[in-house]
Amino acid sequence: MTEEVNFDEFTETYNSLLKEQTKLFTSDDGYFAQYKINITKTISENPAKILEFGCGIGRNIPFLKEAYPNSTIFGTDISIESLDVAKKLNPQVQFVATSELPSCESHFDLIFVASVYHHIPCSQRANVTKLLYQSLAPGGQLIIFEHNPYNPVTRKIVSSCPFDKGVILLAPRTLKKYVREAGFDLYRQGFCLFFPPWLPLLNNIEPYLKWLPLGGQYWVHATK
Ligand SMILES: C[S@@+](CC[C@H](N)C(=O)[O-])C[C@H]1O[C@@H](n2cnc3c(N)ncnc32)[C@H](O)[C@@H]1O
Repeated sequence: MTEEVNFDEFTETYNSLLKEQTKLFTSDDGYFAQYKINITKTISENPAKILEFGCGIGRNIPFLKEAYPNSTIFGTDISIESLDVAKKLNPQVQFVATSELPSCESHFDLIFVASVYHHIPCSQRANVTKLLYQSLAPGGQLIIFEHNPYNPVTRKIVSSCPFDKGVILLAPRTLKKYVREAGFDLYRQGFCLFFPPWLPLLNNIEPYLKWLPLGGQYWVHATK
């Protein structure tokens, strides 16, 4: 069973732990956020309201803001201390605790979720996916990025990362089952993050390798 890690305890060390775990891949702090948002931009051009679900300390938020300058951006997380950090760094963005999301009036046109599901206890994953469904506007887009359990390097990184202690990774078929059962129409999936940015020629072929289950992560895109 996935052990619930309390991210309140990692607000000060999150960035440095992540940097240490991924240093052979890249030393650029923004690389992963920019990479994921580049993919997201291909599925949703100009959403009015965006929610980052499980935004943590808000590492992806500045990249969402840059990619979507005309959108209103919201962030949510169960870690209140992480939200406090995210708020300080992104004062123009609205952050709400996940427990408040059901009573939040907003229906979002795009929900972005990155590296969150493996932190949700297995028994809660279906309900969390239903909450995402309820929070999305009709016709809205959901994109979820997750660690790829078929990639040995990903598994190695996860096994030595203090904030990944006890997590259970999800295969794409398991994530897609939650998404389908919550009521979403599944649109596409793809594997990503195959090569480090210092191999730019290989980076260029990554979009053609979406089918190959060897990327460091994968994404699932669904609509309502
Ligand atoms: C590895 S961090 C990822 C943070 C951010 N998405 C990023 O890419 O930097 C996982 C985050 O998911 C949050 N989380 C875990 N379970 C959650 C849940 N049920 N609802 C909302 N957030 C959750 C954690 O508190 C943590 O901030």
